[in-house]
Amino acid sequence: MSTVITNIGELAGAAEDRWLIEDAALVIDDGRVAWAGPAAAAPATDEEYDAGGRAVLPGFVDSHAHLVFAGERAEEFAARMSGRPYAAGGIRITVARTRAASDDDLRANVRRLVGEMARQGTTTVECKSGYGLTVEQEERAVRIAAELVDEVTFLGAHVVPEGTDPADYVRLVTGPMLEACAPHARFIDVFCERGAFDAEQTREILSAGRAVGLVPRLHANQLGHGPGAGIAVEYDAASADHCTYLSEDDVAALAGSRTVATLLPGVEFSTRQPYPDARALIDAGASVALATDCNPGSCYSSSMAFCVALAVREMHMTPEEAVRAATEGGAKALRRADVGHLRPGARADVLMLDAPSHIHLAYRPGVPLVARVWRKGQPL
Ligand code: NIG
Ligand code: FE
Repeated sequence: MSTVITNIGELAGAAEDRWLIEDAALVIDDGRVAWAGPAAAAPATDEEYDAGGRAVLPGFVDSHAHLVFAGERAEEFAARMSGRPYAAGGIRITVARTRAASDDDLRANVRRLVGEMARQGTTTVECKSGYGLTVEQEERAVRIAAELVDEVTFLGAHVVPEGTDPADYVRLVTGPMLEACAPHARFIDVFCERGAFDAEQTREILSAGRAVGLVPRLHANQLGHGPGAGIAVEYDAASADHCTYLSEDDVAALAGSRTVATLLPGVEFSTRQPYPDARALIDAGASVALATDCNPGSCYSSSMAFCVALAVREMHMTPEEAVRAATEGGAKALRRADVGHLRPGARADVLMLDAPSHIHLAYRPGVPLVARVWRKGQPL
């Protein structure tokens, strides 16, 4: 069954030579994009859907989220807003609640958030473990994530659990925990930060993951300057995430690599930290992605549109740069060629806005602008 979405005012990410096509049509066949171009030239199809002049974009690719958890930390957020600084120690509170939850509770939480994301136009979701921190609990987290999202990352190295010797914990993560989790994950991640894992531990964990075929990615330079971004480049990581505190050398290293700088401005919003310098990265030639980091601590938002608005308002990205970072940037950060764009052959993940252009995502912040979403060619 082929469907043409016609009368598209502005179609994004569907042509090789330019990002936007005006007065366009998009043909979906068997879950894939079959054709994209000027509406007047569209081929005949079984079905027609009139976009009424609205903008059509690739579905958002949220390349960084922590969805396998129980409970919430609203009080911690409120305390931060009245002056208490963000401390990664809150992670341990979520660890305790997550460990106490049943498999079905955790499944329901992931389903709820993936549904929330889908209703806001996100059609590809990455999800990390990291609130279990034992072999059984981390295995359960990646297994449940693998049932419900597109991409899974093993983040046993989120923090060292209370009362555990750090060296013993690194041995556990690189040994039995990795062995149990690797079959369910494609990526390995480490929270490389003061108070979490240092450079040497980070290298040891990434090396172990790489040895069993996992692709490195890193929580890097979130709370202060440090070695994370440099290690991400050294390991040819798919992405260095956060990048809130980068040196000029870090920016140059990222620009000279294929490691994507994944910016998570919802975190800066929710922790009152300075926003990352997106302009320095883009102007140096680095690839940039935007993602939510949806988690109960540092950013409990599942909205990619919110990230786009923050990127434009607070990080001086143009609306086009921000939307591209939230679509093709996310795809690149996940090393995926089939999502984040709408060129023929792409997975038919389509976001129709209740607006004539992508600019409205930043111009009308907080407004539900999603008119319709198709995932793998199916309307949601
Ligand atoms: O990406 N940085 C580490 N992990 C999460 C925060 C997790 C939490 O606070 O629960 C992050 O910000
Ligand atoms: Fe994170």
